[in-house]
Amino acid sequence: MKQYELQHRSGLDSLTRVERADPRPGPGQVLIAVKACSLNFRDLLVARGAYGAPPPLGRVPLSDGAGEVIEIGAGVTRVKVGERVAGIFMQGWIAGDVTAEVAGTALGGAVDGMLSQYVVLSEQGVVKVPAHLSYVEAAALPCAAVTAWNALVRHARVKAGDVVVLQGTGGVSLFALQFARMHGARCIITSSSDEKLEIARRMGADETIHYGREPDWDRAVMARTDGRGADVVVEVGGAGTLEKSFNAVRPGGSVQLIGVLTGVAGPIPTAAILRRSITVQGIYVGSREMFEEMNRAIELHAMKPHIDRSFDFEQARVAYEHLAGASHAGKVAITF
Ligand SMILES: NC(=O)c1ccc[n+]([C@@H]2O[C@H](COP(=O)([O-])OP(=O)(O)OC[C@H]3O[C@@H](n4cnc5c(N)ncnc54)[C@H](OP(=O)(O)O)[C@@H]3O)[C@@H](O)[C@H]2O)c1
Repeated sequence: MKQYELQHRSGLDSLTRVERADPRPGPGQVLIAVKACSLNFRDLLVARGAYGAPPPLGRVPLSDGAGEVIEIGAGVTRVKVGERVAGIFMQGWIAGDVTAEVAGTALGGAVDGMLSQYVVLSEQGVVKVPAHLSYVEAAALPCAAVTAWNALVRHARVKAGDVVVLQGTGGVSLFALQFARMHGARCIITSSSDEKLEIARRMGADETIHYGREPDWDRAVMARTDGRGADVVVEVGGAGTLEKSFNAVRPGGSVQLIGVLTGVAGPIPTAAILRRSITVQGIYVGSREMFEEMNRAIELHAMKPHIDRSFDFEQARVAYEHLAGASHAGKVAITF
């Protein structure tokens, strides 16, 4: 079978196409013919050796993939041959809170990922995907969509009439836009690009802010909410945007801390947080239970992920470069 492995310590040159023996499922495992994968910003960090400790040489990258179950091992009852499934980001996180133990089971990081023609996963580590989605669309879900769902639905408990701020038009942010709209919230989205803001508008964004032209987007949020501020900010920027997120959120509102696009550490404006009773909630993707809950909502609303571009398996490196160039909106996919 064909697959990619990370064969150097850092950089996109580490992405190496190899041929390996086809795997077989053991007891409790399923063999999946992968049909599509999707890329996340995290996959760039992993390939660059900048996502915690560099992965061991030979690690198969990517957390996100969907495919068809083509063989099941002894004792498997959760899925059948022929079913369409996606792997869950943390193979060990079924339900409840994240733990150090399950955090050590992330596909394409701690354990081999999905950029492979065939993968063997535990039957516990997969979910069935919504019937109306193509494999490319289903492969968009495991990391970015589950993260957005965990932040907005599980933690922020978004509801009709809430104001939600989305930063940029990457994978997490556009899923968050869709889930916020699904729950009846008013969405304000920022971007570096008018074309991307137009895409967001077509997807239901109520207000758009070009943060290149309006770098004080926190003030713009205040102006557009008559000085009240947002109920929730979906924070994907990280250190460089956090202070503005605190300025943009209403007293008693929440900042869902997800991303590190601008860096992983910075000053903390403690007084602003405490005086205005802001909740800062760290988010680390989500559990299988959240993924299944989200899939029910996606199916009910016939929701479709926004796919920017799909690349052929042989062009995986070009797909990585496309994501790194940040000209995309939504998700970048790789097909087999
Ligand atoms: N904690 C978790 O569990 C978790 C899960 C998933 C992702 N993440 C993190 O969340 C972040 C987003 O991930 P992703 O996969 O959605 O990334 P992505 O698809 O690569 O999104 C990148 C986009 O973010 C926007 N952006 C970049 N810098 C920005 C800034 N300073 N302010 C506002 N927007 C900015 C840009 O969009 P525009 O051109 O439209 O501005 C850019 O195209 C990453 O840091 C990732 O590591 C964390």
